[in-house]
Amino acid sequence: MKENRSSFGSRIGFVLAAAGSAVGLGNLWRFPYLAAKYGGGIFLLVYIVLAITFGFALMITEIAIGRKTRLSCIGAYRALDKRFGFLGWLAALVPVIIVPYYCVIGGWVLKYFAEFVAGRGKLVAANADQYFTSFISDSAGGFFSTPVPWFILFALLTMVVVLGGVEKGIEKVSRIMMPVLVVLSILVAVFSLTMPGALAGLKYYLMPDFSKFSTATVLGAMGQMFYSMSLAMGIMITYGSYMQKENLMERSVAQIEIFDTGIALIAGLMIIPAVVAFNGGDPTLAQQSAGPGLMFVVLPRVFEAMQWGGFIGAAFFLLVLFAALTSSISLMETVVSIVQDKLHWKRVPATLAVTVLLLAMGMLSCLGYSESFAAIKPLGMAFLDFFDFISNSVMMPIVAFLTCILIGHVVGTKVIADEVKSENGIFRREKLHRVMIRWVAPILLLAILGGELLKFFGVIKI
Ligand code: TRP
Repeated sequence: MKENRSSFGSRIGFVLAAAGSAVGLGNLWRFPYLAAKYGGGIFLLVYIVLAITFGFALMITEIAIGRKTRLSCIGAYRALDKRFGFLGWLAALVPVIIVPYYCVIGGWVLKYFAEFVAGRGKLVAANADQYFTSFISDSAGGFFSTPVPWFILFALLTMVVVLGGVEKGIEKVSRIMMPVLVVLSILVAVFSLTMPGALAGLKYYLMPDFSKFSTATVLGAMGQMFYSMSLAMGIMITYGSYMQKENLMERSVAQIEIFDTGIALIAGLMIIPAVVAFNGGDPTLAQQSAGPGLMFVVLPRVFEAMQWGGFIGAAFFLLVLFAALTSSISLMETVVSIVQDKLHWKRVPATLAVTVLLLAMGMLSCLGYSESFAAIKPLGMAFLDFFDFISNSVMMPIVAFLTCILIGHVVGTKVIADEVKSENGIFRREKLHRVMIRWVAPILLLAILGGELLKFFGVIKI
C-alpha cells in the first residue's frame, strides 16, 4: 500500500493544494466578524503573533507527522504511539461537526449570489440588516426565501462533486477564480476605505487597543487560526502524507500561512471599515453587533454604493461560492474517506450516508435561528454558533493540546525535526518549534481552555 500512495507532483502543487484547503469561508466570512467582535486591532495582533509562532509550529508538526507515517490522521497518531490512537479519532470528528454548518453558510452565499444575479441587489441592500435577519429566521414567507433550499442545494452540489470526482475540474476553475477573488477583494477594500467614516474603522481594525485584550480574544483568535489554517483536525496530516520527501516543508508552511492570513486581512479591510462607516464612524457599535451575519449585511450595502455594484456583487458572491465549494468538498471528502476506510463501505454508499448525516445536522444549524427554535438553544446559542463553538473553541484546542503533549513529551520533537531535516539538513526554526510545542503552546492552551471552562461553569469571572 505504502508504495502506491499518490503524491503531489511539485512543491508548488502541494502549497496550492494546502492553501486551497485553507482559504475558504474562514477567511472571508469568519475572520472579519471575529475581528470586529473581539476588539479589531488587538485581535489582529494576537492572531498574527499566534500564526507565526504556534500556527507555524503546529502546521509543520502535522505535515511532518503525515509525511513520516504516510498515513491519514487516524492511523498516524496510532503509529506514533498506540495510546494516542484515540486522538486521531477525535481529530477526525472535527470535520464531521464543521461540514454541516459550513454548507449552511455556503447556502447563504448561494442565496445572495442568486439575488444579485436576479438584479435584486438594491433590494437586499436597502434593508440589509432586516433582510438578513428575516432570511435566516425564515419569517419572510415562501420556501425560497428561507435558508433551507439553499443549504440543501449547496450540500447536494458538494455531494455530486464528491461522488462524481470532478474535483479536478472544480480545482482548475478555482485556481483561476481565487486570484480573481483576491483582486476583486482588494478593489472592494479600496472602495470601502473611501467611504466617509471608514478611516475610524481602519484605525479600529489596525491599531491595537490593549484595553480590549482578554482571554476571550486569545481563545477567539486561536480558534480562528485552527479553523482558517485547517489545523487540529487531521487535514494537514493527510496533506503531508501526500508530500514528497524532497519538498521543502518549512518554506511551504510559511507560504501557506502568508497566503491564508493575507486573504483574511484583505477580507477584514473590505468589511470592517465599511461597517464602521455605516455606523457613522463609531466602532463600538460594530463591536457589539458583529456576528455571523456581518459579511452578508455589510457587503450588499458596499456594492450598492459602488458603480456597477449589481454586477460586482454577483461576481463577488460567485467567487466566494467557489472558494466555499472547494473547501466543503475537501471537508466532505475527508469524512467520506474515513467512513470508507474504517467501515469498509464503498464510495457511493459512504457518500450518501455522510450526506444524510450532513443534511440532518445541518438542518439544525439552518433552522436554528428561526422562531420555532427559540426555545432550543444548546448552551444558550443557536445551533450554528454552538457547533462552531464546540469545534473551534473546545475540540480543536483539545486536539492541539494533546498533539503537543504527544510530540513534545512522549515521542519528542526530534522526530518532527528529523523529518523536516531529512530534506536538506536545515530546520531554521527548530528551537522555536521545540519551545512552542513543548511548553508555550500547551501551557497557553491549558490556561485558556481551563479559564473558559471555569468561566462557563460560573466558577470564576474574568
Ligand atoms: N480552512 C477552511 C476555511 O478557512 C475551512 C476548513 C476547515 C477546511 N477545515 C477544512 C477546508 C478542511 C477544507 C478542508 O474556510
